[in-house]
Amino acid sequence: MRVRAFAKINLSLRVLGTRADGYHELRTVFQSIALHDTLTIRASRGPFRLTVGDPACPANETNLIWRAAARMWTAAGRRGAPRDLAIDLEKRIPMQAGLGGGSSDAAATLRALARRWRVGEAPVRAAARALGADVPYFLEGGTVLGLERGDLLYPLFDPPAAWVVLVLPDFGVRTKDAFGWFDRFGVAADPRVRRGADTQVGPSINDLEAPVVARHPGIGRIISALHRQGASQAAMSGSGSAVFGLFPLRRDADRAAKGLASASRRTLVTKTLNRQNYQTLAAT
Ligand code: C5P
Repeated sequence: MRVRAFAKINLSLRVLGTRADGYHELRTVFQSIALHDTLTIRASRGPFRLTVGDPACPANETNLIWRAAARMWTAAGRRGAPRDLAIDLEKRIPMQAGLGGGSSDAAATLRALARRWRVGEAPVRAAARALGADVPYFLEGGTVLGLERGDLLYPLFDPPAAWVVLVLPDFGVRTKDAFGWFDRFGVAADPRVRRGADTQVGPSINDLEAPVVARHPGIGRIISALHRQGASQAAMSGSGSAVFGLFPLRRDADRAAKGLASASRRTLVTKTLNRQNYQTLAAT
């Protein structure tokens, strides 16, 4: 069984405050993109095995795939650690990039194993919430407004399809660090947010951008360069380090990707994926 785990970008990400549980209260618009990892799941005698092509990606219990498999095993009423199962991960989504790769891999594992072991929807949703704030989004896909930790979800109308240029610096940013930098940066919450002015898909604003750019000024330069190349929107995705630019035409996206690639950053062109396509493609 092969399943695809699609990446996301955040069309906007507003941080409204800190929460008692240590997380931040968010108002974010998630958007699926066609870039994906592929998981191959098969029966294999013995203890659960996870193999990953990319040596930078852990293939042990710290990987969310492993933790998702353990949760589904228990939810299916089985004892002990999962066994007689092997998952091979073909990693294409860059890590520590703000593209949700680890969370999407986890959601893909939950979906696939729930089907295989006949686990109901409620335990799958509970497992998703427990595994990470972004994981529930990946059970949904498409364009979705996320409130609270980003896990109270409201599906939105599909915005027009767009080509997405991803610019990937040669360093990553840890999500925890980005939120910590935000706290120390001391940005007052934008009053427009409380009036709900940007709950719809509008110009990209990411409140984590300024604190991350303060440490990594190159990210700011990439965003400006994408605007100069004609992107209709450009912003850092999530907690970075990836930056995206949206383009209505493929040839403009290709030109921008070519112009922005350098020794210290890689670029790739992908496209937005609406909810219907996400749900069809993620299920096969
Ligand atoms: O839930 P997840 O493990 O993906 O989150 C990683 C880290 O990002 C959290 O430990 C927290 O520091 C930060 N975070 C946050 N507020 C959110 C989501 C994530 O502070 N809404």
